[in-house]
Amino acid sequence: MTQTEEIMQLYYEYVMPTYTKSPVVLVRGKGIKAYDIEGREFLDFFPGWAVSGIGHCHPKVVSAIREQAKKMIHVSNNYYNELQGLLAKKIVGSSFDGKVFFCNSGAEAVEGAIKLARKFGHPSRYEIITMDNSFHGRTLAAITATGQPHHQEGFAPLPQGFVYASFNNLEAVKSKITDKTVAIMLEPIQGEGGIIVASDEFITGLRKVCDEKNLLLIFDEIQTGMGRTGKMFCYQHYNVIPDVMVLAKTLGGGFPIGAMIAKRKIADTLQPGMHAATFGGSPLACAASLATFEAIEEGDMVEKAARRGRYLYNRLSLLKKDFPFVKIVRGRGLMVGVELEIEGKYIVDKCIEKGLLINCTQKKILRVMPPLTVKNSEIDAAVAILHDVLEEAQKVQSES
Ligand SMILES: Cc1ncc(COP(=O)(O)O)c(C=O)c1O
Repeated sequence: MTQTEEIMQLYYEYVMPTYTKSPVVLVRGKGIKAYDIEGREFLDFFPGWAVSGIGHCHPKVVSAIREQAKKMIHVSNNYYNELQGLLAKKIVGSSFDGKVFFCNSGAEAVEGAIKLARKFGHPSRYEIITMDNSFHGRTLAAITATGQPHHQEGFAPLPQGFVYASFNNLEAVKSKITDKTVAIMLEPIQGEGGIIVASDEFITGLRKVCDEKNLLLIFDEIQTGMGRTGKMFCYQHYNVIPDVMVLAKTLGGGFPIGAMIAKRKIADTLQPGMHAATFGGSPLACAASLATFEAIEEGDMVEKAARRGRYLYNRLSLLKKDFPFVKIVRGRGLMVGVELEIEGKYIVDKCIEKGLLINCTQKKILRVMPPLTVKNSEIDAAVAILHDVLEEAQKVQSES
């Protein structure tokens, strides 16, 4: 048995089978490179579902975690912790004036936003409009907010108060507003849904209707935040500011942390005792996140993500010329989707064999999200691997 097979056996016996997995045991990472237990090296163009968005084990994050772990790992939220205050100030300073609630994951941040909206509308307004094809996480409320029935199947009864509308269709959203509506929630780019970018008219139209009807506009920037799209937060591409924004993934540079930011005028909606997270905003998580912000700023990573993103998009777009089953390339910054007319699983598996990690979502959409530190030469190397694999797929197709 190889070491990989031994670990797979442990999973088979002892770990719940909630994920589809590739037969790779990752043990080490540095920047864009990840290494497995057999010593194989990979170019990681989807580092931890974008959690390691500034690359694996960024030295600033590693050193912040190491130093903080020696001082204090956790402080209960019944006391103050300096780093939580500083991180909240940093997030607000990088986004919009308001206050922050800290938690540990994306779904938890989404839950926080849902609870804030419910409290804001209490008692008469509680309905939240979310988008078809969206993704907001795996808790009961988050799967209900997620506008894809297959994520909800088998988990009924689901919480009430969620209504769905077509993404990028302002009239469809407007038609769902009732006197019970309190908020509209969306991802500015649907990630798991297949890298679908919200149009300018859609976002500005939503802002206008939310202002007119006193609804909260909630942006789920869990995947799009922290420089990924070529702005620190994706909403900054549009001439609007959301009322609430949720963050996770890259926020901790690899360390778990989630956050909900609400505009100042609504930020005191949740009062003591109404919401909490035992681990939320621990000094260790906040140290990792502050170091992540520092790394992004000092490394000019947001601007680089915009530039490298254009390069990545152009290189991937060229694949359309060579392969008729490459349908569309779309995205923003370093969040790019390649929609195929064939199943993507074969492509992802073959890429792994050749040393490239990418993701496939919605069965046919390759999701490419390298760390913000990616270089053009690394993009060239990754696209060359993908080209080889697509060539093989074409051959297989023509033989069958
Ligand atoms: C847009 C969006 N929202 C929420 C989540 C859930 O985050 P988590 O898995 O940290 O709970 C995800 C995770 O992929 C996401 O992409």
